[in-house]
Amino acid sequence: MKETVTIEKPKGKLGVLLPGLGAVATTFIAGVSAIRKGIAKPIGSLTQMGTIRLGKRTERRVPKIKDFIELSDLNDLVFAGWDIFTDNVYEAALNAGVLQKNLLDKVQDEIEKIKPMKAVFDQNYVKKLHGTHIKEATTKFDHAQLLMDDIQKVKTSNNLDRMVIIWCASTEVYLKRDPVHETIESFEKAMRENHPAIAPSMIYAYASIASGVPFANGAPNLTVDIPALIEFAKQKNVPIAGKDFKTGQTLMKTILAPGLKARMIGLNGWFSTNILGNRDGEVLDDPESFKTKEESKLSVLEYILQPEVYPDLYHNFYHKVRINYYPPRGDNKEGWDNIDIFGWLEYPMQIKVDFLCRDSILAAPIVLDLALFLDLAQRCKMKGIQEWLSFYFKSPMVAPGLYPEHDLFIQLMKLKNTLRHLKGEELITHLGLEYYD
Ligand SMILES: NC(=O)c1ccc[n+]([C@@H]2O[C@H](COP(=O)([O-])OP(=O)(O)OC[C@H]3O[C@@H](n4cnc5c(N)ncnc54)[C@H](O)[C@@H]3O)[C@@H](O)[C@H]2O)c1
Repeated sequence: MKETVTIEKPKGKLGVLLPGLGAVATTFIAGVSAIRKGIAKPIGSLTQMGTIRLGKRTERRVPKIKDFIELSDLNDLVFAGWDIFTDNVYEAALNAGVLQKNLLDKVQDEIEKIKPMKAVFDQNYVKKLHGTHIKEATTKFDHAQLLMDDIQKVKTSNNLDRMVIIWCASTEVYLKRDPVHETIESFEKAMRENHPAIAPSMIYAYASIASGVPFANGAPNLTVDIPALIEFAKQKNVPIAGKDFKTGQTLMKTILAPGLKARMIGLNGWFSTNILGNRDGEVLDDPESFKTKEESKLSVLEYILQPEVYPDLYHNFYHKVRINYYPPRGDNKEGWDNIDIFGWLEYPMQIKVDFLCRDSILAAPIVLDLALFLDLAQRCKMKGIQEWLSFYFKSPMVAPGLYPEHDLFIQLMKLKNTLRHLKGEELITHLGLEYYD
């Protein structure tokens, strides 16, 4: 079939630059290194393991996604990052305690070479952390310039062809949209005046877009989800995506809730609680950072269940999310859900979910897929918000006036149809009446 979109070939090396070399980032980097050495498999990654059906079911065309569309090869990825601590990726991965030492030792030579660049950091935005490896500059605008210098240096010293940046740093305190976020002029002026509405993550996002580099936000911070940076991304032909990697409890919610709704099962309440003991958990122990996370986690059910469309089923259901820092668990979180549902004639039932999950194990393949898909988007000349990547986020960014799509299965359909569209393949509607003509 004829291609409708020109896709530039992924020649040369792709730099994946990560603000925040903590649990998620190091699990991702060490994982890719292990996969490249052939000692591990890319479980959880749609780009590496997923397939895509093409044409009619009778055609039996089901290639792997990576064989269907031009993605960078894992051997062409080069990693770099920033952190407020000086640990290299090997040391930081040992500290994070996600991957076992015997696995990390096998990739040590490769990952210990990756040392963090000095971060743009301000403790007013992440109260629980005290870092030392921090850039010094007078204004937020100067900080952005320093980040842009870093980006260029990483590019030239590694002989990179293209780059992407994915925010894997800590969750910042809750910020509301401010008038300075409205236009790029007001945003730049605010950076020059050190306005408090400009958080460090926004400075990274600005530097990324100004450098022509796609940017994704893995945390729930506002970051790139403001009119000024969305417009800037369009001007600079840069794809952007966010917010907050969809892992753990929210992943389960967006799997279960569409199923309940599909069968017209009612909901009285959904109580979710978590214990986790990693640095992310410590940061989220601060009520202001938790508020950012809470906002991101709460909206999911409202959008999926549509109480305004189904008042008999979902009017006024009670939804609560709790996160408690509990050091003994480290990165191995436990998330409980108590779900009070009702069926035929309003008879009540309950579902209990106890998910003993590993957050960074679920997040690492998302980082990989986002890096490869954002780079693909840029090679296809897509720019601004990439809604087709909603699949990976708890609070997907969408165009003004649109509500976000949270249902995991609709998100997957949207993603795969976007790939089909890019390659000029027929979109799949699942109608299928023609098989019975
Ligand atoms: N693990 C998951 O499943 C998951 C899911 C959704 C979102 N997230 C988000 O991803 C982010 C990373 O999670 P994690 O478990 O790796 O946390 P982490 O605490 O292990 O790592 C975050 C790292 O960012 C560094 N950092 C903080 N501010 C920085 C700055 N301004 N510049 C550079 N570095 C900075 C910290 O020093 C730390 O090393 C968090 O915001 C978390 O909420 C994680």
